[in-house]
Amino acid sequence: MERLKTGVSELDVVIGGFPAGKTVLVTGDPGTGKTIFGLQFARTCCTRGMKTAYLSTEENASDLRLQGESFGWDIEGLEKGDFFRFIDLAGYRAAEIKTALSISLDAVKGNFVELLDNLPDDIQVLVIDSLGSRTSNLTVFEFRDRFDLLVHNLASRNITAMVILDSVTSKELNDIALFSAYGAIQLLKRENPYTGRRERVMDIVKMRNTKTPIQLLAYEIGLRGIELMLPGEISKSL
Ligand SMILES: Nc1ncnc2c1ncn2[C@@H]1O[C@H](COP(=O)(O)OP(=O)(O)O)[C@@H](O)[C@H]1O
Ligand SMILES: [Mg+2]
Repeated sequence: MERLKTGVSELDVVIGGFPAGKTVLVTGDPGTGKTIFGLQFARTCCTRGMKTAYLSTEENASDLRLQGESFGWDIEGLEKGDFFRFIDLAGYRAAEIKTALSISLDAVKGNFVELLDNLPDDIQVLVIDSLGSRTSNLTVFEFRDRFDLLVHNLASRNITAMVILDSVTSKELNDIALFSAYGAIQLLKRENPYTGRRERVMDIVKMRNTKTPIQLLAYEIGLRGIELMLPGEISKSL
C-alpha cells in the first residue's frame, strides 16, 4: 500500500506514513497540536509535489502562515509555488461564505460533500481543520450520513485526507467518526505516572492495514514542529 509521509519523521518510521487515498482522523483537546500536525503534514505533502489544500474553519490563513513560520516553514512560498492553498472559512458567517467563496449554505452547515465540490479537481491531499465547529447543530444520524459520505467521496477521488475533530464535538459524534475513518490518532496531555510530569502523548487509536504500537507515544512541540520521542522498546523493534 502506498503511503504519504506525515512529516513527523519518527511517526513515519513507526507506521510508514498515512495510507494514500484514505482518511485519517486527528482528535484532541485544544492546544494539543492538531493544527500544527495538520500544517506539518500538508507542508510535507506539497514539498513532495502533491497538490495540497488546507481547509480552515477556525484560524485564518495569515495566522496559519505565522504558525508555520514559527517552525521555519515557508508556507507563503509554497502557496506561490501553486502546490499549496488555504481555503479560509474562518471568521466568515455562513451568508458571507456563500457570496465570498461561492460555497453554498448547506456546505457551511456541515454538508461536507458539497465542500468537496468546490475543491479544485487536481487536489491530492486535503486537511480539514476542523470539522467540529461546523457540525454541532447536526443530529447523530445526520452527522453519520454526512461523515460517511465525506469519507466515501474523498476515497473515490483518491484524496488522502487528515480530518481534525476538536473536543467541542460530542463523544457520540467522535465515536461515529472514529468508526468510519481508515485511521485515527488522538493527541493528549497527561501526567506521566512515573515522573509525575505533564507530557504530550499520541495514541494511534487505529490505522487499518498497518502495524501500530499499542503504547502511547510521547511527543513534543519543538523547533521542527511535532517530534516524537520513541520509547526504547519501539526503537529496538524497528
Ligand atoms: N513555535 C512553537 N514552538 C513550540 N510550541 C508551540 C509553538 N507554537 C505553538 N506551540 C504550542 O502548540 C500549541 C498550539 O497547537 P495547535 O496545533 O494550535 O493546537 P490545537 O490545534 O490542537 O488546538 C500552543 O498552545 C503551544 O503550546
Ligand atoms: Mg487547531
